[in-house]
Amino acid sequence: MHVLTTRQAWRDLMGSWRRDGDRIGLCPTMGALHAGHLRLVSEARASCDRVAVTIFVNPTQFTASSDLTAYPRPLETDLALLRDVGVDAVFVPDVNEIYPNFPDPAEISVVAGALGERFEGRDRPGHFAGVATVVAILLNLTQAHAVFFGEKDFQQLAIVTATVRDLAIATQIIGVPIVREPDGLAMSSRNARLSPQGRLDALVISQALRDAQQAASAGADVDRVRGVMHERLASCDAFELAYAELVDPQSLVPLCSNVVQGYYRALVAGVIEGVRLLDNAEVSFPTL
Ligand code: PAF
Repeated sequence: MHVLTTRQAWRDLMGSWRRDGDRIGLCPTMGALHAGHLRLVSEARASCDRVAVTIFVNPTQFTASSDLTAYPRPLETDLALLRDVGVDAVFVPDVNEIYPNFPDPAEISVVAGALGERFEGRDRPGHFAGVATVVAILLNLTQAHAVFFGEKDFQQLAIVTATVRDLAIATQIIGVPIVREPDGLAMSSRNARLSPQGRLDALVISQALRDAQQAASAGADVDRVRGVMHERLASCDAFELAYAELVDPQSLVPLCSNVVQGYYRALVAGVIEGVRLLDNAEVSFPTL
């Protein structure tokens, strides 16, 4: 497994793979890898000749500098995991390899627009501009044929899809289904920060999503489905709600009451024991 730290070495390796005619799959990460990341790698492995992973804790997507400093960086463990699952190359750049002017702001960066201002973007201003910018840079450096993102960060997936479309970056975005613990909790590096009780309380999120799915398939309307989700979340005192909404899966615009059929997304976010947790699920309103 190649482990490279400079943009030139990374470009050279990717260029040599492309000249060999290999299809390159990219999995961008910030490290602290768990089963959800390994699922991205196995999806890439299944459809690409070469699997490339980036590990870069991107400073421009953090709104609080304390979160950036506290972000876990278990590099050796991450590299061992990636080696075990047969990744071909890992890019672990220093911040100046990505942002040459850092710590000064870059002259040019990506703006995330209305899609980046709702939900996570409302509570974390600038977050999605940072995500869109770093993903554009990583894709320019890699020129991957396909790039893999988890559906757990559903708004991020919508933002990177729009980035690739609007900046005409030649790659295919692949959304990879959420990996869950056996009890339903969506996998996240943040789960490790919960106490055993907080971990139990967190199950209210996936339960609320399941309630929404069941209510919709049983014929409830949008307002009732939204209500069912909120009632379940309110039943847990430890859960501080950030949002729970039914949205169009592309624009993330909340559904109006008169939607009658189709496939939508329920998004939930909230805080337990100071840890922000996100989850989502497809909700389909059948034809009656
Ligand atoms: O999901 C993440 O780990 C990050 O937001 C990403 C996509 C690697 C960009 O820094």
